[in-house]
Amino acid sequence: MTVEPTTTAARLIDRQPGMTAAELVGHLSPPPQFATASLENYVPDERYPSQAAAVEAMRAFVNESTAPARGLFSRKPTAPVAKPGVYLDGGFGVGKTHLLAALWHRTRGRKYFGTFIEYTAIVGALGYREAVAHFRGASLIAIDEFELDDPGDTMVMSRLLGELVASGSRIAATSNTPPHALGEGRFAAQDFLREIHALADRFTTVRIDGEDYRKRDIEGHAVSLTPEQFAARIAAETAGVTVDPFRDVLRHLATVHPSRYVGLISGLDAIGLTDVEVLSNQTDALRLVALVDRLYDAQVRIHATGVPLDQVFPEEMLAGGYRKKYLRATSRMIALTTA
Ligand SMILES: Nc1ncnc2c1ncn2[C@@H]1O[C@H](COP(=O)(O)OP(=O)(O)OP(=O)(O)O)[C@@H](O)[C@H]1O
Ligand SMILES: [Mg+2]
Repeated sequence: MTVEPTTTAARLIDRQPGMTAAELVGHLSPPPQFATASLENYVPDERYPSQAAAVEAMRAFVNESTAPARGLFSRKPTAPVAKPGVYLDGGFGVGKTHLLAALWHRTRGRKYFGTFIEYTAIVGALGYREAVAHFRGASLIAIDEFELDDPGDTMVMSRLLGELVASGSRIAATSNTPPHALGEGRFAAQDFLREIHALADRFTTVRIDGEDYRKRDIEGHAVSLTPEQFAARIAAETAGVTVDPFRDVLRHLATVHPSRYVGLISGLDAIGLTDVEVLSNQTDALRLVALVDRLYDAQVRIHATGVPLDQVFPEEMLAGGYRKKYLRATSRMIALTTA
């Protein structure tokens, strides 16, 4: 007798998360896996001096915000005016989010931590004016995975950050792209150079080099299971597991706004994806990236059959403007499938 656990398992495609603006705003703190991230438990790789330098830059950034204003007749020479923002630019898995969360934990006062996509979703849900009213005056706005995918984001973010900085807020961001190169290869970024440069100029850029920390200990491949292994893995999951064909998941993702993917996967320990195949279009690929980001934040395991998940982005996609995004998702899927 063959047992088909997949027919009884819950399906991801049956989940329809609705999240109110209040829920989106309420979610603005570091993901659980960064709950204890600190500057002290970040271990800089000695082979890459920029890592230790980044820790120091974070420390200095917090100290600047708490330093008393210098007196008018102070004899000390005036230090160059520190910028209101710090921008961590680096490759995958070098600890950018860790450092951003550490900065957030260290900062006092009203503070927020979210991904770029969460902030844009909140602006969409609340409306621009209400979003400004909500965030203004905060001591820290931490923005993980800063990316400009289209002109709309570019206009909204350059304006929003301008207003927040004017209200006294300080901004910290992470990205796989240096600030002046944001948008390149994705849209006609040259038409928005004024906004992109205005945005970039608010930040001191801190470049972090290094190897993917997630790959320090593991084989760099996503595990693809045989149907038998897959069934066994799913059966071994005690709670919160879904099983769907990969193709159905891609179709479902198209019906949910990416800012709500966090609700889509909430409460799950693992997801099962059957018959994974190479992606054939960029829209699906970008949605998968957004899903993987949320799975990674929540440390939801992936069990999969078919094409190994580190091979779903075809060469021509990897050659385009979203290359870094795809590589980041690959690194994360490798981490989530090996466990
Ligand atoms: N130098 C380090 N010392 C201690 N832990 C680290 C270090 N670098 C990374 N980590 C840990 O490795 C994991 C991956 O790091 P993190 O997610 O911060 O990298 P990232 O640069 O944000 O990657 P991505 O480009 O995928 O967003 C996290 O659990 C983080 O706490
Ligand atoms: Mg990160």
